[in-house]
Amino acid sequence: MRLKMKLAPPPFYITSLILGLGLLIYALSAYTTPAQAAAQPLQDKTSNDFCLACHQGDDISLTLGSESLPVTINPIQFGLSVHAEEEIACVDCHTNISDYPHPDVKEKSVRSFSLSFSETCKDCHEDQYISAPDSVHEKAFSTGDENSPLCADCHNPHTQARIIGKESKELTIGARVHVPQTCEKCHSENYETYKNSVHGNALTEEGNVDVPTCTDCHGVHNDIKDPTTATFRNNTPELCANCHDNAEIMNKYGISTNVLETYVADFHGTNVKLFGDQSPDETTNKAVCTDCHGVHDIAKVNNAETGIALRENLLIKCQRCHPDATANFPDAWMSHYEPSPQHYPIVFYVNLFYKIMIPGIIGGMIFFIITDIYRRMVNRKKGAK
Ligand code: HEC
Ligand code: HEC
Ligand code: HEC
Ligand code: HEC
Ligand code: HEC
Ligand code: HEC
Ligand code: HEC
Ligand code: HEC
Ligand code: HEC
Repeated sequence: MRLKMKLAPPPFYITSLILGLGLLIYALSAYTTPAQAAAQPLQDKTSNDFCLACHQGDDISLTLGSESLPVTINPIQFGLSVHAEEEIACVDCHTNISDYPHPDVKEKSVRSFSLSFSETCKDCHEDQYISAPDSVHEKAFSTGDENSPLCADCHNPHTQARIIGKESKELTIGARVHVPQTCEKCHSENYETYKNSVHGNALTEEGNVDVPTCTDCHGVHNDIKDPTTATFRNNTPELCANCHDNAEIMNKYGISTNVLETYVADFHGTNVKLFGDQSPDETTNKAVCTDCHGVHDIAKVNNAETGIALRENLLIKCQRCHPDATANFPDAWMSHYEPSPQHYPIVFYVNLFYKIMIPGIIGGMIFFIITDIYRRMVNRKKGAK
């Protein structure tokens, strides 16, 4: 009894509180124009909260023909994405959806459903759509290859992080290290090989970004050209030299920077260079860097198993084009070495001999001619007297 009395508030306060609230609501609504009022439905169906209320559930899916696609969107992951950070709403990309039930989906497979989004990114990212008919992926796409990558295959729109540094305007280190995994989805064999190479191991195991990732050699978006063409092959030496000629990078690893120079100086390189200049559309049959070093499987030259500093490993490479080559065939070639007393001493001393002998002979002849002229002049003077 006493308890009840204590808890019951005085009726006067209740009535005045209700009255006050009523007045406040009336005052607020008086400042809202009718147009604004109409634009504010009970629940804002364009807000991400409206969509996520259902879509964070992990038991909903979409049936596409005989396949089923889960339609769960993780709100935390979405919240951390670059698009959420930029306040891009679900409905900015899903422009056909404004309520539930959604419009019927006509596609009969998960892939054709994905393909129906091929233009979704265009309005905001026009640069990445630039058409390049010689791009391998675009070519595959235009010939109806459904496995050709769409934007969303490489960039999950719901979880995509920022990859270009806000200040640096360059690809972030994290994104660079992640590139091979992006390509792995469809090129898993190349990825596996690359991962175990001197380049791939440094990138994927050590996070070293001095080494080339897939896009450094192949380009990205519509820059990815067919790597089996003559142009691509003939340009390989320049591609590798981008880094291998750069002392700033190579000094860190104690790797020689005159590999291109010595390559161009030898019979293969001289021919490839001349050939590349004269007939860029024809494939050279001379050795380019990758014929000896490999492509996705490039190893340290002194690798105990596959290194080509080992003569038997190198011989296999030579034999592809010189089928009759025998064990000491590689000795006919000086590799990247400039001749020195340690490497190729005979060539070195023969060179040295010529370096001394030729100036010696010419110098001697000039000396002989000058002294001869002098003697003649002296004789003539004597004769005139
Ligand atoms: C009432 C719950 C609910 C709400 C609210 C809702 N969805 Fe859905 N959504 C579903 C379910 C369930 C499916 C699975 C297929 C179906 O039943 O239509 C689905 C399917 C989808 C799909 C794939 C199929 C299609 O229609 O393209 C997309 C995309 C989608 N929703 C986006 C959204 C967006 C964007 C919003 C907010 C504007 C939203 N949804 C709001 C429940 C909801
Ligand atoms: C930057 C554009 C973009 C934004 C923002 C976006 N989506 Fe999507 N969404 C897509 C694309 C593209 C696909 C198709 C992906 C695929 O399957 O290839 C898709 C697919 C879906 C699907 C089908 C299932 C799936 O994962 O493929 C659902 C459901 C969905 N989105 C809901 C949402 C919801 C809810 C939001 C907001 C929280 C949202 N989306 C925000 C672009 C976007
Ligand atoms: C409504 C506009 C809009 C749409 C549609 C949109 N995006 Fe974005 N996206 C942005 C904005 C804004 C950024 C922030 C970076 C910027 O300004 O370029 C961004 C950033 C990105 C980034 C990171 C780039 C960086 O600078 O780090 C990627 C990758 C990306 N979007 C992919 C996509 C893909 C794939 C789609 C289609 C499925 C898509 N976007 C659709 C507006 C959009
Ligand atoms: C085959 C995979 C792949 C496809 C398909 C792809 N991208 Fe990219 N994208 C990447 C990679 C990898 C990067 C990182 C850039 C680099 O490696 O130089 C990137 C970078 C970006 C960036 C950051 C700015 C820039 O250009 O570097 C945006 C924005 C972007 N992509 C949007 C898109 C859009 C939109 C599409 C569809 C037209 C698309 N991407 C298709 C792999 C892809
Ligand atoms: C969604 C699948 C998919 C992804 C992801 C993808 N590709 Fe491709 N790629 C293809 C298809 C399909 C082709 C054309 C058919 C073929 O030659 O295998 C192709 C062809 C290529 C070719 C030419 C192959 C040849 O033999 O001429 C190169 C090079 C290539 N892709 C590089 C890349 C790189 C680099 C990445 C990552 C940035 C990447 N791809 C990501 C599907 C993909
Ligand atoms: C150091 C440069 C370099 C790097 C790094 C590189 N590639 Fe290649 N790639 C090449 C060259 C050169 C060829 C041409 C090989 C030939 O002559 O057949 C090629 C060929 C290809 C081909 C077509 C032929 C084949 O072997 O299937 C694909 C696909 C490909 N690369 C994908 C990738 C992917 C994916 C990555 C990253 C995991 C990658 N590449 C990393 C240089 C590179
Ligand atoms: C005809 C075969 C052949 C060609 C072509 C070739 N190399 Fe080599 N390369 C070798 C051999 C063999 C070695 C190991 C030399 C040794 O230590 O005995 C080597 C060593 C190297 C090294 C390690 C140097 C060091 O300081 O440890 C690099 C880097 C290299 N080559 C890059 C290239 C590049 C880049 C090209 C193309 C411009 C190229 N190679 C062309 C056979 C070749
Ligand atoms: C983006 C720069 C870059 C490009 C492009 C590049 N490399 Fe490298 N390469 C490196 C770096 C950095 C290392 C040292 C990695 C380490 O030791 O951890 C290396 C190591 C090597 C080695 C091992 C040398 C040794 O220690 O024995 C060889 C061989 C080699 N590269 C050949 C090539 C060939 C051939 C190409 C062209 C198809 C090429 N590289 C393209 C950066 C590059
Ligand atoms: C991609 C094919 C290819 C590879 C691999 C290759 N060569 Fe050659 N090499 C050639 C061609 C083509 C010529 C020019 C033949 C001619 O004009 O008679 C040549 C010429 C030569 C010559 C000049 C003498 C001659 O026979 O004309 C020598 C020496 C030579 N190569 C050594 C080597 C050695 C050592 C290796 C392995 C380290 C090697 N080559 C790997 C294609 C190759």
